[in-house]
Amino acid sequence: MSDEPHGLDRGLTNYGDRDFARFLRRSFARSMGISPVLLSKPVVGIAVTPSGFNNCHRGMPELVEAVSRGVLAAGALPRPFPTVSLGEVFLNPTSMMYRNLMAMDTEEMIGAQPMDAVVLIGGCDKTVPAQLMGAASADVPAVQLVTGPMSTGRHRGQRLGACTDCRGFWGRYRAGTVDAEEIAEVEGRLSVTAGTCAVMGTASTMACIAEALGMSLPGTAAIPAVHSDRLVAAEESGRAAVRLIETKIRPSQVITEKSVENAIRVLMALSGSTNAIVHLTAIAGRLGIRISPERFNMISDETPVLVDLKPVGQGYMEDFHAAGGMGALLRELRPLLHLDTLDIEGRTLAERLDEPAGWIERSVIRPASDPVSPVGGLVSLSGTLAPDGAIFKRAAATPDLFESEGRAVVFTGLEDLSRRIDDPELDVEAGDILVLQNAGPHAAGMPEAGYLPIPKKLAQAGVKDMVRISDARMSGTAFGSIVLHVAPEAAIGGPLAAVRDGDRIRLSIREKRVDLLVAPEEITRRMKGFQPPAAPKRGYKALYRRSVTQAPEGCDFDFLAGGAGG
Ligand code: FES
Repeated sequence: MSDEPHGLDRGLTNYGDRDFARFLRRSFARSMGISPVLLSKPVVGIAVTPSGFNNCHRGMPELVEAVSRGVLAAGALPRPFPTVSLGEVFLNPTSMMYRNLMAMDTEEMIGAQPMDAVVLIGGCDKTVPAQLMGAASADVPAVQLVTGPMSTGRHRGQRLGACTDCRGFWGRYRAGTVDAEEIAEVEGRLSVTAGTCAVMGTASTMACIAEALGMSLPGTAAIPAVHSDRLVAAEESGRAAVRLIETKIRPSQVITEKSVENAIRVLMALSGSTNAIVHLTAIAGRLGIRISPERFNMISDETPVLVDLKPVGQGYMEDFHAAGGMGALLRELRPLLHLDTLDIEGRTLAERLDEPAGWIERSVIRPASDPVSPVGGLVSLSGTLAPDGAIFKRAAATPDLFESEGRAVVFTGLEDLSRRIDDPELDVEAGDILVLQNAGPHAAGMPEAGYLPIPKKLAQAGVKDMVRISDARMSGTAFGSIVLHVAPEAAIGGPLAAVRDGDRIRLSIREKRVDLLVAPEEITRRMKGFQPPAAPKRGYKALYRRSVTQAPEGCDFDFLAGGAGG
């Protein structure tokens, strides 16, 4: 061990007398009933995020116990500490608004408290990105552990998992093919265990991305939350954190341009969540790494979709784990990956993938020679409606709508949408394009409102999909021909704000464009006198409005990007 202070001697409180600060800290630590022998050991912090408002983290106490067991067995002192926890469906206006708060909390608590390494335990959508952003900025040796996915429930002979099936059943209820009694039954059968959503939604995508980056132990992303192997993974993560104290491998050595590109490949092959792009951009941005939209599309066009899971395919996360999980997927992608990236164990990806492959269930993880789709699940768009970019999940869309031109039906915000979408008098037809304004980061914290419902009268007439465009996000468990993350957003004067009912809009996935077919002079005329919505005056929301960046920059705060380790 080097001479630099370690364990509880790190970062002493400043009273102008170091020895007194050390004496006082140890004295207070003794009040926790910890022996002097243990107090002299290196310290592994454990960022814990249980909450009565976060069902996805229900298994946290057992995980913390298992991590602590691993840390102790490896000869260090585990010290759990709380941070903000974000339960996706319990937050208003949207969990996205609080991701940066959790990232700041995580970064600051890692930096301010005496720890030599940290294990971060998260799971629900925004928590893993927030923890990785915080860890990247703090740049203290770190291991990401996820809570793991839920197992599926059963309903009348069908497997159910949150939350693709939530949307499927709700859509059928709106269309009148599922009655009130059945939807009440389904409510109790969608989310039946601890853990994160059971499909390849945002939480699962981010778990896989954490492993692809090298920030989680190999093979741990997809272990179901209630499987005993999840606890073994937690114990091993504790041991790994202690090893990191010796090797001193920092997040900035693991999260590199190459590992970020590998993570994008994995995102494409999983046909993962659109949200993951925003989060990965923010994580990479903390380390000054930027992947251009052109590079993103190149990776998408070269990378096949290999995993057949909902919301795009058939299976659930428990099937992905049983099929071989991330190890199997990475082996299949091997020719496309940077193999010299390092993981937290100090191993290169090549060394990991040289190990013998286990069982692979080919109906879930397809060989590259027989992909689900020959091209990746997501594409980045540009065009006159989205000069700074937009995202389209082609794998979850209707191919017949890839080349579309239609009449805009515009909703000026979330309230307008909920007030009018089911109005029988709404002037809307199946070939129209639904446009939602003012749901971007500045206007509304960028909620998952991009999955605009099909107007009831069209749904009842059998319309299953329409082109929908907004500056909002979409749940990773959702599907449809949906253009998201339009930038600049309407609330800062992007062209989206200029769209009016009846305008023509053209979408071309072949050309990767979304265009407003209105003369530029007319757009300028309409935008004259544009006023952004009123900004909140106090507290975190005021800070958020002042500092949040647009989706192509990851919606991070402008003052948090770059400067890792500072
Ligand atoms: Fe937590 Fe879906 S609600 S992962």
